[in-house]
Amino acid sequence: MRERILAPSILSADFTKLGEEIELIEKAGAKYLHFDVMDGMFVPSISFGMPVLKSIKKATHIVMDTHLMIEKPERYLEYFVKSGADLISVHIETLDDPEKVLKDIRDLGVKVGLAINPETDIKEVFPYLNLIDMILVMTVHPGFGGQKYIHECTDKVKAVKAEIERQGLDIDIEVDGGLGKETLKEALDAGANVIVAGSAVFGGDTYANAVELLGMMNS
Ligand code: DX5
Ligand code: ZN
Repeated sequence: MRERILAPSILSADFTKLGEEIELIEKAGAKYLHFDVMDGMFVPSISFGMPVLKSIKKATHIVMDTHLMIEKPERYLEYFVKSGADLISVHIETLDDPEKVLKDIRDLGVKVGLAINPETDIKEVFPYLNLIDMILVMTVHPGFGGQKYIHECTDKVKAVKAEIERQGLDIDIEVDGGLGKETLKEALDAGANVIVAGSAVFGGDTYANAVELLGMMNS
């Protein structure tokens, strides 16, 4: 079985004590920190960008899992790498030339992720699976934390898992949106191994939440 990784999304963290929150999730055993970048164009909201990433990077060694929900992400790849991204996911919906952009991310020396929205046909990513380290299946419409998991997306996880196997590839499947105690198992059973969780981790007792989710993931 592939390693199961928890990727808490700091979108739902308390920004007045971000350093402490990150320490807690690291101590609990989370391996990634999910960093949601929003531009107010590809998604309705605006979140944070390079300066925030840069200061987090100074304070932690955790893998920075950077999710770019922005138009024309190719404009910013180099800046996100310089600011500390270890893995960059771009949305298939934003790319005119997916092959070029995915190769450019690889050439910058970081891991390559490709994200897909709930309404986009999963087959659209099939031609690019051999160029990436991780496929990110959105399980809510991107833009905000705290939304409900869209169950129809579970079938997309199954479909992409089957295609990864068919092509004989070795890549992670990350799910993002509405993941928590009630929905975790459905996504894991479908084949996901990287779990993004925002409100389920940072809502309430951060450490206890992360420990509980990791316990469920590895039982
Ligand atoms: C949504 C973001 C998610 C979000 C998940 O657009 O991509 O990463 O933070 O939040 P929850 O886990 O609360 O659905
Ligand atoms: Zn995300």
